[in-house]
Amino acid sequence: MESNRALGSIEACVFDAYGTLFDVASAAARCRDDLHGKADALADIWRNKQLQYTWLRSLMGHYVDFTQVTGDALDYALSALKVDDPPLRDRLMALYMELDAYPEVPAVLGRLQGAGLKTAVLTNGSPLMIDAAVASAGIGDLLDAVLTVDSLGIYKPDPSVYQLALERFALPAERIAFMSSNAWDAAGAAAFGMTVVWVNRFGQPPERLPGTPTAELTSLEGLPGLLGIE
Ligand code: LAC
Repeated sequence: MESNRALGSIEACVFDAYGTLFDVASAAARCRDDLHGKADALADIWRNKQLQYTWLRSLMGHYVDFTQVTGDALDYALSALKVDDPPLRDRLMALYMELDAYPEVPAVLGRLQGAGLKTAVLTNGSPLMIDAAVASAGIGDLLDAVLTVDSLGIYKPDPSVYQLALERFALPAERIAFMSSNAWDAAGAAAFGMTVVWVNRFGQPPERLPGTPTAELTSLEGLPGLLGIE
């Protein structure tokens, strides 16, 4: 990891959404009683299948939006765990639209904006999903832009996705700090040339992929300090 020097010239902070700003396990956790001991397994399979389907559909050239991918992945997870409960399925999808934001998120975004930095979300999420999540977390006023892959029809880590942030802010890649808890997403943005902070919330080992993050945190709490904001 390099020192904070690379983080001294940052003009925009761009955040991954799911897993980074929003806790993707919170939907299943809120249905814990109805899932009878299967909530953690469901959250795990649901998330893994959701990501796999984004990568596979991108390779296959068969894009559907993230709402569809998320529903397909949920159906797979419920089937794998032998849960046949359509009203519960609907409830889980509805809860995914209003996931909990991690507790430090509003204050951190506020400090970044207060210091004159631009802030944005850059996500696989469909506009419907991400707008709902941002609204339910009450962080809309703390974001200058919400950028989604939907206009491109391909998912992360395709380089064209990271390019969206450069175009939105008219900045070179290295002037943009990209924060993701998804190590593969952090690798994708770093390989593209962004300055990347891997928010390693889950204590995972580093990916063996091209693209090395500039810095690593365990939550977003330390981000203002890393950027030299008092
Ligand atoms: C996103 C997924 C990768 O928000 O978490 O783009």
